[in-house]
Amino acid sequence: MEHTELMPNYRVDLRSHISPEYQKFICFNPVNDWSLLSWKDVGKPYEVKSVARDRKLWEQEHGTSMDAHTAWTHFNQSFHQWFIKDVPAEITKEKAAFFKGLKAFNFHQVREGIGDVLRIHLWNYVHRIQDGVWDPRGKRALFEGLDVQKPRILFLGAAEGYEAMQLAAMYPGAEVVMVDYDEYCRSTRFAEFPESYPFLGDNPQTGSPQIYYKNDFNIEYVVDDIRKLPFGKEFDMVLSVGLLEHFPDEIKPEVVDWHRRFLKPGGYAIMTTPRNQLRSRLFYQIMADVMNHTYRELMTVQQMGLYIYENGFDICRHGYIKVHNGVVARVR
Ligand SMILES: C[S@@+](CC[C@H](N)C(=O)[O-])C[C@H]1O[C@@H](n2cnc3c(N)ncnc32)[C@H](O)[C@@H]1O
Repeated sequence: MEHTELMPNYRVDLRSHISPEYQKFICFNPVNDWSLLSWKDVGKPYEVKSVARDRKLWEQEHGTSMDAHTAWTHFNQSFHQWFIKDVPAEITKEKAAFFKGLKAFNFHQVREGIGDVLRIHLWNYVHRIQDGVWDPRGKRALFEGLDVQKPRILFLGAAEGYEAMQLAAMYPGAEVVMVDYDEYCRSTRFAEFPESYPFLGDNPQTGSPQIYYKNDFNIEYVVDDIRKLPFGKEFDMVLSVGLLEHFPDEIKPEVVDWHRRFLKPGGYAIMTTPRNQLRSRLFYQIMADVMNHTYRELMTVQQMGLYIYENGFDICRHGYIKVHNGVVARVR
C-alpha cells in the first residue's frame, strides 16, 4: 500500500488518492447549475485534424474513405503495440538507430529516427512516468463513493477494459460486461492485459484497502456493436472512456442515449473524454500515426457536461483527471 514502482511498460501505483498531496480529481470553476449554461458560453470542442499514415495509405489503396469499424481495428492494433513495449529497452534501441543513421549520413534514417526517439520519450513520460493514460488515482477519485452494492457494470467501447476493472476493485462483487466490436480487443488487448497489474480497491468484509488482479474479477467480454446489444435497463453503472469525442455533434445524442438505454432507474453513467489542453493537442500531433485513425475531438469538462446534460442526464460529479475530463451522471 502507498507504493509506486516503474515497471518496463507501466507504473504500479497503490498510492491513495485521498491524501491531499495526491488528490488528482480537480474541478476549477465547477458548474453549479447546468441549465444556465449555453453553447455560446462554452464554445465547441477542438477537432484533431492530423490523420494516421496507415489510414491515408489504406484510403489511397481502396479509393474510398475508411469506415469507422475498420478505423478502430487499425487504431487498436497500433495502440496496443505501445502498451507492450519494454520502454527503457526501446529508448536505447531507437537512440542507437538514430546515431547509426547520423554516422552513415543517411538523412532519411535520421529524420525517421528523430520522430521515433521523440515518440518513445513522449510515451515514456505520458504513460509510464506520469501514468496519464490509466491514471488510477484520478479514476479512483472519479469513481469513489457511489451508491451501489455488487453492481452490474456495462463498459461500452471497452478496448482493454482497464476502467471497469478499477471500478470492480472499488465495488467488490461486481459483475462486469465489456463490449467492443473489434474482436482484437477481446482476443489481444484485454487477453494480454497484465495479470500482475494491481488494482487498489476495498475489502467488503473489513472496509480496508485490498489489492485485486484481473483474474479476481467476474468479467464477460462481448464482441458486438453497441447498437445491437440485447440488454435492457439492467445495469447499475454504464461506463465509457474515450467514446463520445469520436462522434460529431449530430451523432452525440445517440451516443449519450447508449448510456441511458441500459441503466436501471437511479443507475450511474460514468464517462471520460480527453481534455482540450495544449499538451494534449501536441500529444495527438506527435502521436498521429499511432492514434489518429478516427474522427477525434478534444473538449472541456463544461462542453462534455453540456452534451450529457442536454441529452437528459443530471450531472452528479464533474472534474478533470490527468488527461481526461470525468463526469458521473444520472438520468433526469
Ligand atoms: C478510443 S477507444 C477507448 C479508449 C480505450 N481506453 C483505449 O485504450 O483504447 C474506443 C473503443 O470503442 C470501440 N467502439 C467504437 N464504436 C463502437 C460501437 N459502435 N460498438 C462497439 N464498440 C465500439 C472501438 O473499437 C474502440 O476499441
